[in-house]
Amino acid sequence: MRIDIISVVPALMSSFFEHSICKRAIQSGLVDVQLHDLHDYSSKKFRQVDDYPFGGGAGMVIAIEPLSTCLDHLLAQRSYQDIIFLSPDGQCFNQSMANQLSLSENLLFICGHYKGIDERIREKYVTKEISIGDYVLSGGELAAAVCADAIIRLLPGAIGDESSALTDSFQDGLLAPPVYTRPASFRGMNVPDVLLSGHEKNIEAWRHEQSVKRTQERRPDLLQ
Ligand code: ADE
Repeated sequence: MRIDIISVVPALMSSFFEHSICKRAIQSGLVDVQLHDLHDYSSKKFRQVDDYPFGGGAGMVIAIEPLSTCLDHLLAQRSYQDIIFLSPDGQCFNQSMANQLSLSENLLFICGHYKGIDERIREKYVTKEISIGDYVLSGGELAAAVCADAIIRLLPGAIGDESSALTDSFQDGLLAPPVYTRPASFRGMNVPDVLLSGHEKNIEAWRHEQSVKRTQERRPDLLQ
């Protein structure tokens, strides 16, 4: 899989991809993540990429010219299953979107910043708009990192234990059950006996029961 991310502050994301599961997935060739600094596509003297909004009002808008130059440059090299604009206006990101996007060969993310991007980019290029929640971030960079992380960890081989991604919260529509590690007893707090029993069927049943209980208590909306 290849993921291209266009941003005015790519440095906000670069260290993210240098750690943990994403780093390993990149190193092992499962995914190629390319960050593109929009300033590199500006024709202006000081690499400017934003301008005042027509009609007035506060804040700057990312201009159509550098963004379309960057997009045309990338589109000349490959086609994308989706060109995704990260925006609070978008469809709320969830596990099923992550699952679906993880099947793509090429994905392109556009991170907004300032007041937003020229609407004509959304009309001409963007195929999907994604929000990571009902709040406004300073830019789409953290949202792009969130989506990329959720997608990359689903790629076969990205996680050491193959079954691990499948047992994540939400993957079966339920929250994940509690987990414990050694020691089995700490300051009078004990790990549930069933997990120490070695009885796989009982452990599986307990975990499912705990998942349902936790989902009922914390996210009953998921059960509807
Ligand atoms: N950009 C700004 N806020 C955002 C959000 N909530 N989700 C995705 N992109 C954003």
